[in-house]
Amino acid sequence: MTEPQWLEAWPVEEGARRVDELFTSSFEGSPEGVWSAPGRVNLIGEHTDYNAGLCLPTALPHRTFIALRPREDDRVRLVSAQAEGVWEANLSEIAPGTGGWGAYVAGVAWALAEAGHKVGGFDAAVDSCVPFGAGLSSSAALEASVAVALDAVAGLGLAASDAGRTELVDATRRAENEIAGAPTGGLDQSASLRCREGHALLLDFRPGLSALESGVPVPFDLETAGLTLLVVDTKAEHSHVDGEYGARRAACEQAAKLLGLDSLREIAPALGGMGIDRALAELEPHDADGVLRRRVRHVVSETDRTARFANLVREGRAADVGPFMLASHVSLRDDYEVSCRELDLVVDTAMTAGALGARMTGGGFGGSAIALVNRADVDTVAQAVADAFADAGLTAPAFLLAPPSAPAA
Ligand code: GLA
Repeated sequence: MTEPQWLEAWPVEEGARRVDELFTSSFEGSPEGVWSAPGRVNLIGEHTDYNAGLCLPTALPHRTFIALRPREDDRVRLVSAQAEGVWEANLSEIAPGTGGWGAYVAGVAWALAEAGHKVGGFDAAVDSCVPFGAGLSSSAALEASVAVALDAVAGLGLAASDAGRTELVDATRRAENEIAGAPTGGLDQSASLRCREGHALLLDFRPGLSALESGVPVPFDLETAGLTLLVVDTKAEHSHVDGEYGARRAACEQAAKLLGLDSLREIAPALGGMGIDRALAELEPHDADGVLRRRVRHVVSETDRTARFANLVREGRAADVGPFMLASHVSLRDDYEVSCRELDLVVDTAMTAGALGARMTGGGFGGSAIALVNRADVDTVAQAVADAFADAGLTAPAFLLAPPSAPAA
């Protein structure tokens, strides 16, 4: 028996105290305020965001905290409990290629300025209980905490409405894509800034939608349903700045181009599209090894599963979504080829131990998996996964509980 390691979320007061202390011990005087933003899990809808598809995330109770004070000049000075020394730059020097963790912070200020907002320099201290490199969007939590902090100190007023928050999403996403250089699709930033407590958020990434259409909160009351969302951080290495994520994205863009479409979403018959069978037939002559067709089959089927999953949740049938979670995992494993041994082990073990559904969450190639379990079975499932990892000689995973939590504030 290997004792499962639980990773608790910090109460908001504790996170605030930590960054307040870090700020005052690093810079002279006090911060103007403290803000925070959550990591996320994606219930379903994986690798669909950059294909104009659907995703269904919830916000984690685990958050990144930032204490910040604006400056008179355009200097940015940053300290983090997770990094050595002070990261410093002038805002005017921030550009694609700016390196280091500070790119995720200063990049948000850069993107807000690019969007025409008046944003100056600042000193800031950061600390986080969102695990890093776990596929739980620690970078989006950092970007979103900066976005709401700058929104407040610059008096932009964007965080006050969902429509304003979609502008903050654009800025955080540009920071990640253009300054930090990770070609991600916007799911993580949308989740951290727009999710609501007790809800999942049905995101639709078709271009040109209003805020009302692009993010619809769906009540997801696990407590009343007697269910728990268990997250397993496999501790297996994963990174988005590497080539595999970009390669998946490029394959999707190539397939869309061959089909004469702007995005793979347009294959959907409900949107007047040709449907999956014809799309696969049209791709065949250009796709000797079948890779493009497998990628397309995942993307199209995943958006369909996401819509069905959201409908069940809306009908109060959260306990019935398990088969969609499993089908999503199988599709990501076999057609999209972004799973790995550790993620598959979590899913198989959790299902055998009584989970209603389980799947990898996030970009894959390591990171985390989620399992939907009856509350009474949480410890049994966690124990089974911890034992399976020990038996396989793998690094011990970490376990998190993920009630749908509040957005950046
Ligand atoms: C990562 C990216 C997101 C999304 C997921 C896969 O989390 O940051 O934009 O593409 O992978 O669904």
